[in-house]
Amino acid sequence: MVRGRCTADMDVIVLKKSSAVAACGAGLIQQLLQTKPAAVLGLATGNTPLAMYQCLITACDNGDVSFRDVTTFNLDEYVGIDAGNPASYRSTMKRELFDRIDIDQARTYLPESDAGVDPSATGPAYEEAILAAGGIDLQVLGIGRNGHIGFNEPTSSLGSRTRIKTLTQQTLQSNSQYFADSGTQPQVAVTMGIATILDARHILLLATGVEKAQAVRDAIEGPVTAMCPASALQLHRKVTVLLDDEAASCLAMRDYYDWVHRQKQRFGKEFTAC
Ligand code: PGA
Repeated sequence: MVRGRCTADMDVIVLKKSSAVAACGAGLIQQLLQTKPAAVLGLATGNTPLAMYQCLITACDNGDVSFRDVTTFNLDEYVGIDAGNPASYRSTMKRELFDRIDIDQARTYLPESDAGVDPSATGPAYEEAILAAGGIDLQVLGIGRNGHIGFNEPTSSLGSRTRIKTLTQQTLQSNSQYFADSGTQPQVAVTMGIATILDARHILLLATGVEKAQAVRDAIEGPVTAMCPASALQLHRKVTVLLDDEAASCLAMRDYYDWVHRQKQRFGKEFTAC
C-alpha cells in the first residue's frame, strides 16, 4: 500500500517485477480516491496498465475503493472505428475496467468521433469537457517504444492540445496485434495533446519490459525534445514513474533513484512506495 504524499518533482521508483508496478500504481489511485472520492482520472489503454486495472477491480470487489463519484478521461481513441468495435478504446476500457467497477459510465469520456461528426471538432470539445470537470487530478500514462505518450508521436508539438494525429509505422505495427485484418486498422487517432497531459495535477507513468528501456531513458534522462514526447514530463512538477527492473535497465542514474527512494522511506516525509 502506498503511504504519504508525492513530491513536487519526478519520482523514479524501480520495482523488481511488473506485478509490483501494477500494485503500486493501483495503491496511488486508491490513495487519491480516499482523499478525493470525486477525483478526475486520466486513463490509458495499451497492455501496460491492464494489471493495474485488475488490481483496482479486485480492490473495488473487496470494498476497498469506490469509483461511484469518479470521472475519467481517456487519452485517445482511433478515428473511423465504431465505438462498439471490440478494438476501439471505448470497448477496451469497458472490457478491462469500466464494466467491472462501480463507475457511472456516463462520466467515462474518450475523444470519440461518432460517424458523421467532424473529427477536428472533437479536440476542442474534449479540452472543454476536461476543463468543465475541473481538470485531471491524476493522469495515467504508458510509453511507446518511440517515446510517445497518448498518440503524440515523435515530432508532436510540446504545446499540442487534443487533436487528430497520424500514427507512425512503428505504432501501427505494435498495435496491429489488436486487429485480425490489417485492412481495418485505423491509421489516424484523436489524442490529448502534450500540453493537455501536462495540465494534469499529477502524472503517473508506468513502464515495464526491456523493450521500453531506451524510451524510458530518453524520457527521464535525455534532452526535452519533441523527438521523445515523454521527455516533456521533465517540465512537470509532480510525476511518479513506476518501472520494473527491465524498463529501468538503460538508466544511467539508476543507483541514485534507488538511493533517493531509500532516503524518502527512511525519513518518511515524502511519497513512500509499496
Ligand atoms: P503498451 O502501449 O502499454 O501496449 O506498451 C503503450 C503506449 O503505446 O503508449
